[in-house]
Amino acid sequence: MTIAIHESALIRHFNTRKETLRAWEEKIGCRFSPFRGFKMPDSRLYIEHPDFLDSIVDLVLTNERHIFIRGPVGSGKSTLMLLALRDLPTLMDRRGNRFVAGYVGMTGLYEKQMAAAIADSLRVKYRRSWETSQIIDAISVECVRRYIEEKCRTALFIEDVADNQEAAFHKIRYLADLPTEEMKDSYGTALDEPIVTLIMSGTMEYWNAMLNYLPQIADRTEPLDVPPLDNAKAKEFIARRVAYAQGKIDTFDKDNIDVYPFAEEAVRCINGAAKGNPRDIRMLARGCEQVAAEDFRRTGDPTVTQKIAELVADAYAVILKEVH
Ligand SMILES: Nc1ncnc2c1ncn2[C@@H]1O[C@H](COP(=O)(O)OP(=O)(O)OP(=O)(O)O)[C@@H](O)[C@H]1O
Ligand SMILES: [Mg+2]
Repeated sequence: MTIAIHESALIRHFNTRKETLRAWEEKIGCRFSPFRGFKMPDSRLYIEHPDFLDSIVDLVLTNERHIFIRGPVGSGKSTLMLLALRDLPTLMDRRGNRFVAGYVGMTGLYEKQMAAAIADSLRVKYRRSWETSQIIDAISVECVRRYIEEKCRTALFIEDVADNQEAAFHKIRYLADLPTEEMKDSYGTALDEPIVTLIMSGTMEYWNAMLNYLPQIADRTEPLDVPPLDNAKAKEFIARRVAYAQGKIDTFDKDNIDVYPFAEEAVRCINGAAKGNPRDIRMLARGCEQVAAEDFRRTGDPTVTQKIAELVADAYAVILKEVH
């Protein structure tokens, strides 16, 4: 049997484009596109906001308020959460408490799914047949036990918190308010401070919704805005990704950044259009890669010029507006 394979115009176009990109990547010494999306954040690609991370950690350590990491889509909320999550188990608060941390990254959860996700993330055992309230009880009992017996507070990271069902939210609130009055009565001074800290994320719209619908939590929560990348950081963002794709990230010199093949003005233009939003910077840089690759095929010069950046920024202006 023979199968005739006709290369369609679309596939031909696709392959040509792939080859064009490949040639450009090869020219600048990259093994793959520097601007592709990576599933897990690699800390070597991360542009630090040390003050911001400090302020999150300080708030957790002082144990006075919950935290809402606030920012537009793609501003880096999840990335920050994962970093804070990673650092927390190495820290100790003023009273000598350590931390057990859990992370709920799924959204759109009903109350039982939320309860189960929290239990899983904190490694609390429960039965599938249990009601939501039984699962939540098991979690709170374990949080109390960890606090009293192991001197461990609980930090619970919940992504895009307002994207969950409202009923799920009320379960979260119960945990946020621990210890209960009865617990305080029975344990006395052994249990005289909050034992669960929530670190939530979401956009400004969701924060406002929370203020309106759940003032009980919002009143005790500190909103922290994810800072946008300034031009120097945007440059580092692009340069790190190029170095990563070149296999040179481990010798990256933060104090001596070469942003080749991007022109400095191109970086400024990209960052202006992206308003310092890392996801948008990545999208625009990828667009620039495509145009630069076409130019490279014709002229032999791989530079991402200011002109290319302006062209791409204009083309993406509409898309970026729709995304936000
Ligand atoms: N400080 C940073 N340094 C380097 N890359 C970053 C930084 N912050 C975010 N990114 C990258 O930008 C992209 C978006 O980040 P992230 O998913 O954390 O944003 P988000 O605010 O959680 O978005 P969403 O609202 O869609 O959940 C990811 O590819 C991430 O790796
Ligand atoms: Mg996110």
